[in-house]
Order: sequence, then C-alpha cells, then structure tokens
Amino acid sequence: MLSSVLALLAVAPFFVNAQSPVYGQCGGQGYTGPTTCASGSTCVYSNPYYSQCLPGSQTGSTTTTTTTHSSSSSSHTTTSTGSTGSSTPAAGNPYTGYTVFNSPYYASEIAAAVENITDATTKSKASSVADIPTFIWFDQVAKVPQLGTYLAAAQAQGSKSLVQIVVYDLPDRDCAAAASNGEFTIQDNGQANYENYIDQIVAQIKQYPDVRVVAVIEPDSLANLVTNLSVAECSAAQTTYIACITYAIQQLNTLGNVYMYLDAGHAGWLGWPANLQPAANLFSSLYKNANSPSMVRGLATNVANYNALVASSPDPITQGNPNYDEILYIQALAPLLESAGFPAQFIVDQGRSGVQNIRSQWGDWCNVKGAGFGTRPTTNTGYSQVDAIVWVKPGGECDGTSNSSAPRYDYHCSLSDADQPSPQAGTWFQEYFVTLVTAANPAL
Ligand SMILES: *[C@@H]1O[C@H](CO)[C@@H](O)[C@H](O)[C@H]1NC(C)=O
Ligand SMILES: *[C@@H]1O[C@H](CO)[C@@H](O)[C@H](O)[C@H]1NC(C)=O
Ligand SMILES: *[C@@H]1O[C@H](CO)[C@@H](O)[C@H](O)[C@H]1NC(C)=O
Repeated sequence: MLSSVLALLAVAPFFVNAQSPVYGQCGGQGYTGPTTCASGSTCVYSNPYYSQCLPGSQTGSTTTTTTTHSSSSSSHTTTSTGSTGSSTPAAGNPYTGYTVFNSPYYASEIAAAVENITDATTKSKASSVADIPTFIWFDQVAKVPQLGTYLAAAQAQGSKSLVQIVVYDLPDRDCAAAASNGEFTIQDNGQANYENYIDQIVAQIKQYPDVRVVAVIEPDSLANLVTNLSVAECSAAQTTYIACITYAIQQLNTLGNVYMYLDAGHAGWLGWPANLQPAANLFSSLYKNANSPSMVRGLATNVANYNALVASSPDPITQGNPNYDEILYIQALAPLLESAGFPAQFIVDQGRSGVQNIRSQWGDWCNVKGAGFGTRPTTNTGYSQVDAIVWVKPGGECDGTSNSSAPRYDYHCSLSDADQPSPQAGTWFQEYFVTLVTAANPAL
C-alpha cells in the first residue's frame, strides 16, 4: 500500500506540481495550493474550507490503491467478565474472521505527512500507521459516492473484507458544541436531506452485498439528547435526531451486511452514574421504536476521545466518577441496556488513547496535547462485551482550529491543554500527527 502511494507521489509529488493528487486538497478558503486534480479525479466541493480530488469522475472505473491489515496485538490480557445478558444481539461479532479494509484516503494523508518528516526512525514509525485500519467518515453527502469505490476495492481484496464507516451528517449536528460544522439544518429541509444521504449510502452498499460493513451511527448525537437538552439547539433538534437515526438504522438494516453500533459518548459523559439509566432508556426506546433492527449490534464508545479502555489508575480529572475508564463505563451500562432489551455489545476507540493524564478537564476534546496512538485494533479485547478495539478517529486529522477569528472556532481548541496553533477541523495537523507517532503506546 504505502509503496504504491509513494510511487504515486513520485509521479505527482504533493505541493510541487500544478495538480493535486488523488485525495489531495484542491480548494477551500485560505488554501493556496493547486486547484486542478490529477488525471482520473475531479475536484469535489466538501465544505467552504475544503475541496478534494476524488477518483471515479467521468472516466468510468478507477483503480484505488488498497491494502489489508489483520490486527493481532492487545495490551490488555484481563479475562472475560462474562456476558449474562437476557438480550443477545441477533448479529454476531462482525469482526470475527474478517479483514478490515484500510482507508486509501488516510493512507494518502500519511504518505504526504511522511514526506515531511526528516528523522528516519520517526519517518518509519509514521509510515507504519498507514497499515492500521481507521474508520472512513461520511460527514458530507458529497463524499457518499466515494463509498462505492471503497467497497469495490474491498471486494477485490477477497471474500471476507470489512469496511468501517461513520454515519455523521445529522441536520443541526453537534447541537451542544460551540461550533457546528454540519451541512444540513432542520429549518432548511434537514430531515429530507438526511434521508437522501442515507438512501445514497444504502444504494452504494446494495451493490456490494458480499462486503461486510461496520457503521458507527452519529457520534455525540444521542449522548447530547441524554445530557444536553438544556441547550436550546439540542432540545429543538431532539425529535429530528430521533427520526433521522431511526430512519438510518431501519434502512441500513434492510441490507443485511451492515453491522451497526450507535455512538454512546464515553465514560466521562454518559458514564457518570446519574446518566447511565437515562442513557439506557434512550437507546432502548429508540431501538424498540425502530422495531429492534437485528443488525444493530450495540454501542460505540470513546469515539475521537482519549480515555483508556482500562486505566491503570484513575486520572485525577475523573475524580468522583467510579466509572473512570471505558471498561468500567461499559460494565456499568451493559446490564441496564440488557434489562431494557437493548443488545449490549461494544466497540471502543483507542486510536488516540495511548497516553493518559494529559487533560486539565475531562470534557476537553480538541487536539489534546501529548496524546499518542493507542492500542492497535483487535478483537482480542479480553472482555466479552467488547467486540473490538478500533480506531475510529483518523489520528492526525485536526479536531478544530485554535484561531479565534476563524470560522467554526470552538474555544476548546485554544484551551491550555490543546495543541496550538491548529488548522480547521478535518484538515491535516502535521505537528499533532508527529506527536501521536512518537508518543504511541504501545510504541509503533
Ligand atoms: C510539508 O511541508 C511543506 C513545506 O514546509 C508544507 O507546505 C506542507 O504543508 C507540509 N505538508 C504537511 C502534510 O504537513
Ligand atoms: C453537555 O453535557 C455535558 C455532560 O453533562 C456537559 O459537560 C456539557 O457542559 C454540556 N454542554 C453544554 C453546552 O451545556
Ligand atoms: C485567523 O483567522 C482569520 C480569519 O479567517 C485570518 O484572517 C487570520 O489570518 C487567521 N490567523 C492566523 C494566525 O492564521
């Protein structure tokens, strides 16, 4: 994979030629690089700050560089605590026996980043990140056509390929955040736009029934409905969020090859004892009202966050919460979900959880300084409730800008524990990526 990306770079180096390479940036406010795309790709508007060269334009099918990865390592050896649930998900662990497809886009970002690293050891460690699977975020409807390219590439790799996606485009998204970067608003036809976005995803996946898909559904949204209804934007969005997520899980369920995990925040959010039962109630009522879709496998936790699955000792900022790491949160929530009739299997993001005790407040989420890549994706989790440790957040992609006069600024990105200066959300943050590499635990 990496060698083919490097070969591509050798032909069309980043930042030098007048054309951006496939998956490179080709536009956006403040961007000064090339605005034309390498042959076989077209410049697709993503948002006011980012346009990207996507393959598969008018030239018919294109070849996408791909790779496979089978993960094997886990730093946790704790034995299973056993699952005694009365409700077992109808779908099994989707990861068992499957090879996870690597995002070619993330690999291209890493290839570009590696070019800029001079230290040989760091360079080689950084390169190795391209072989670790991360989720592919569909945070704009314009990106959905790309899903077909990934599914085709995954199918070409063999009979047991699995593509990991994040469904993330609710209208009035990030209702409790200081700055939302969602493209749809409820007022302006948001629910219909969202349903169209889901329909497009379904249409793409329908063409590849043999490829398995794992989908994380709408990070932060339901957790916001549990704890943040006092925020006007969240209470106003509640009905629409529920209608949209219900639509998403029902439509994706019809496909039969899409395993779903609803996002459930993290230990420092829904893991507080007072929030556990309300969270279980919301997840289970939504699930039952959607007619208990059999492909909903459970919940995803710690998405894009920094908590350990198992902390060796409580971070001082967690003081007062007995559920100070993800496994304690999961073990506290699972029985409540099970008795409410909701399937209680989990996947846990550990992509940026390698270094602990780096935050001043548990709620700090933006480019937290000193973070390192964490435990590699694995199904060998040591806990029966945890289907897999995964990397949902592609480490190195920025959480948000620290420039207070820039659009989409959120104050969390200029707190003292946030790495600065940082660029716009979603764009590459080279300095941060290098720290994730050098501070990785286990080491890369
Ligand atoms: C690499 O370095 C060049 C020159 O300093 C810079 O313009 C470019 O943005 C850097 N690329 C990345 C991925 O940081
Ligand atoms: C949302 O809820 C969380 C958890 O209770 C809280 O920490 C946060 O401050 C809330 N956000 C807003 C904007 O009120
Ligand atoms: C911060 O953003 C403003 C508005 O986009 C821009 O004019 C300014 O140059 C930016 N400052 C830095 C240091 O990037």
